[in-house]
Amino acid sequence: MLTKEIRFASRPAGLPTLDNFDMTESEVPELQDGEVLLRTLYLSVDPYLRGRMREGKSYVEPFEIGQVIVSAVVGEVAESRTPAFSPGAIVSGHLGWRTYNVAKAVELMPIVPGVSPSTALGVLGIPGLTAYFGLLDIGQPKAGETVVVSGAAGAVGMTVCQIAKIKGCQVIGIAGSDEKNKYLHDELGVEKTINYKTAGNMFEALQQACPNGIDVYFDNVGGVVSDSVLPLINEHARIVLCGLISIYNSEKPEVGVKPQPFLLVRSALMRGFIITQYASRFGEGIGQLAQWFTSGQLKHVETIVEGFENTPKAFIGLFKGENLGKQVVKV
Ligand SMILES: NC(=O)c1ccc[n+]([C@@H]2O[C@H](COP(=O)([O-])OP(=O)(O)OC[C@H]3O[C@@H](n4cnc5c(N)ncnc54)[C@H](OP(=O)(O)O)[C@@H]3O)[C@@H](O)[C@H]2O)c1
Repeated sequence: MLTKEIRFASRPAGLPTLDNFDMTESEVPELQDGEVLLRTLYLSVDPYLRGRMREGKSYVEPFEIGQVIVSAVVGEVAESRTPAFSPGAIVSGHLGWRTYNVAKAVELMPIVPGVSPSTALGVLGIPGLTAYFGLLDIGQPKAGETVVVSGAAGAVGMTVCQIAKIKGCQVIGIAGSDEKNKYLHDELGVEKTINYKTAGNMFEALQQACPNGIDVYFDNVGGVVSDSVLPLINEHARIVLCGLISIYNSEKPEVGVKPQPFLLVRSALMRGFIITQYASRFGEGIGQLAQWFTSGQLKHVETIVEGFENTPKAFIGLFKGENLGKQVVKV
């Protein structure tokens, strides 16, 4: 039996292109005890994969040229040699960009029952957990505080906005289109929004949107947007350093505002994190996210690209802002 697969063909210079990927076919290996054959239903494309396309040490190994790209996948068990999962079960795991994967049962998670399977890649998956632990553990928002979120209309950002609302905060969302900002305001109850592409002076736009200063900044993008936040932070502000998508395609180190003077005089905290550090608490996170989701307090928003062969295009689209909410590929 053959599976289609997408391999990493060459390291991108700047924004990735379709030439950096190669679509091929290979023979599916025979199942061993403890393994299942999974038919891919949905694939996740994520900004951090760009980091794995660089050479050199990071918190995850770089992709080797010729290697099948790996990301979060939701699939249906087609065959099983483990009592853990029967054929027909829907599970998620960290697997290859393939139409069929052979996976060890211990590396798979059942999805939350009764919900759309693709939520396991978004609000009930790594983006949801990233929002949950980053905001609540590091940001520690309190009712009435002002929370600013960059990348606010993406998978992580949208969940951060909604959790901050659940916690009774004033939320200011920053995103790259008026349509996205309208969605944040009209559908998710975000108080004020800023389109960073058209705002002109970001500092002035933020100053106007945050008359009481900024207590929590959840940073998904870095760059000029985040530089503009620093002068407006309040005493004991918390800056959650989640992502830096504005520089993922840059070849040179970024030059910008130094945060130390602002952190010092406001006794503020800036802390980075990688979500896998919270792995031992994922059960708690998914439990709370699922409860908010099923009670209607938390929405899952996704942009679906159809067709396995369109996975690289969907990935590249993340850097052009083509997604509202979680970008998934329906295979
Ligand atoms: N620390 C962790 O463990 C962890 C885990 C998951 C994700 N992350 C990070 O969290 C961030 C969001 O991830 P996600 O999966 O939710 O992706 P996402 O926000 O759903 O998609 C990426 C979005 O980033 C925005 N963007 C692209 N280029 C930009 C630029 N130059 N400047 C500002 N915004 C830009 C685009 O929206 P606009 O239209 O608004 O430009 C795009 O839709 C990423 O930085 C990611 O690496 C970190």
